[in-house]
Amino acid sequence: MSAKAWGGRFQEPTDKRVERFTESISFDARLAEVDIRGSKAHSAMLAEVGLITPAERDQLHATLDQIGAEIERGEMVWKTELEDVHMHIESALIARLGDVGRKLHTGRSRNDQVSTDLKLYVRDAIDHVDHLLDQVQRSFVDRSDRDLDVVLPGYTHMQRAQPVCAVHYWLCYCEKFQRDRDRLADCRKRVNVSPLGAAALAGTSLPIDRHKSAELLGFADVAANSLDVSSDRDYLIEFTAALSLIAVHLSTLAEEWILWCTTEFNMLHLPDAFTTGSSIMPQKKNPDVLELIRGKTARVVGALQQLFVLVKGLPLAYNRDLQEDKLAVFQAYDTVVASLELTAEIVRRAELKRDAIHARLEDGFLDATTLMEYLIRCGVPMRSGHEIVGKLVGDCEARKCRLADLTLAELQAACPAIKEDVKNSLGSHNVVKALQSYGSGGFGPVKDQLAKWKTRFA
Ligand code: ARG
Repeated sequence: MSAKAWGGRFQEPTDKRVERFTESISFDARLAEVDIRGSKAHSAMLAEVGLITPAERDQLHATLDQIGAEIERGEMVWKTELEDVHMHIESALIARLGDVGRKLHTGRSRNDQVSTDLKLYVRDAIDHVDHLLDQVQRSFVDRSDRDLDVVLPGYTHMQRAQPVCAVHYWLCYCEKFQRDRDRLADCRKRVNVSPLGAAALAGTSLPIDRHKSAELLGFADVAANSLDVSSDRDYLIEFTAALSLIAVHLSTLAEEWILWCTTEFNMLHLPDAFTTGSSIMPQKKNPDVLELIRGKTARVVGALQQLFVLVKGLPLAYNRDLQEDKLAVFQAYDTVVASLELTAEIVRRAELKRDAIHARLEDGFLDATTLMEYLIRCGVPMRSGHEIVGKLVGDCEARKCRLADLTLAELQAACPAIKEDVKNSLGSHNVVKALQSYGSGGFGPVKDQLAKWKTRFA
């Protein structure tokens, strides 16, 4: 018999360059574990419907387990001429079991097999990323008690805007990562639909039971159209899109913390173990890990682009182009996993430079908006209040002082409605005490939100 599983109709051996060009074993070997899981469920189903005997099923299962263990121990020799992980496992099976091994592929093709493997792999990958996001969220929540008294400048346009609790920043990332987790959970619903038994593109004339194999693999449903199964890679695009947003969120955090570590901002201290030095400048301590979390986001977003370009304009059903899908998905997945692992640790160990932050917290008129809101409470229309405070800020800038440095008489000269109690609206700490709306960065609302996160993680 031919060395290739599909060799029957060929007159000459495959060109070596073609083998090198068409192989996927160099990147799909990591599917071995899910491939064996899928083949065991498939053969269990074949035995139930009588296409193989229970004894043949038992032989297949035992030998698949044996091959799986050998792969795990690194004993399998991957050969370019065997193309992919599916062919390696099947040919190892046939080498050991002969005709029984030749029955495994009954009622299935590599097209539904590849998709089954990918769905099993991505389902596990989603659960792992979800767990890592949980760890990052917990790192933020766990450090919140020790940062509860710290007030930070909030920025828009990278200009000082209004002060907020430091914990407001931490919970901001918890919210973003929660949406990422929700997106993954939603994506998982469509991942968790079984392709197995759709065969090449048309299904099969054999009496297979696709619901049985789906159930054995823990799929919640069975894909209803075999043409759709062979061509569908939506779930990989959805997963990679979810990964891209995670990477974008991580790059925002990285960018912000890189800035906070500069001499100019001087707000954050990174642990030595998570920074690197310069080969020429002895004083340097660089935030390379954060820079690479930001930089590697390009790979993840690039992988999403790659997948879209890959599937655009492909006709139904399976086309060999689809083999390239794995490179993009694995690249995005590996990158996000590594970034999340490091982020959790950095979030746990970075320290706010409280004194330096405090020393400059009254710079930049962070209390101007709250002073305007004080005027609104005194009955001044908002636009007029905005104008009055804007002029006061202009005066202060000219005199190189702060709003809180103005005397009551000076404030009343600008707006007679101002009373003695205006001082409660001036200065960053007073502002953060005054912020009270739901979801705002004030001490009260932030403590409420923190309590919710703690309950969630209790
Ligand atoms: N290595 C291939 C892939 O990953 C397997 C599917 C090949 N199917 C086929 N009909 N040639 O997509």
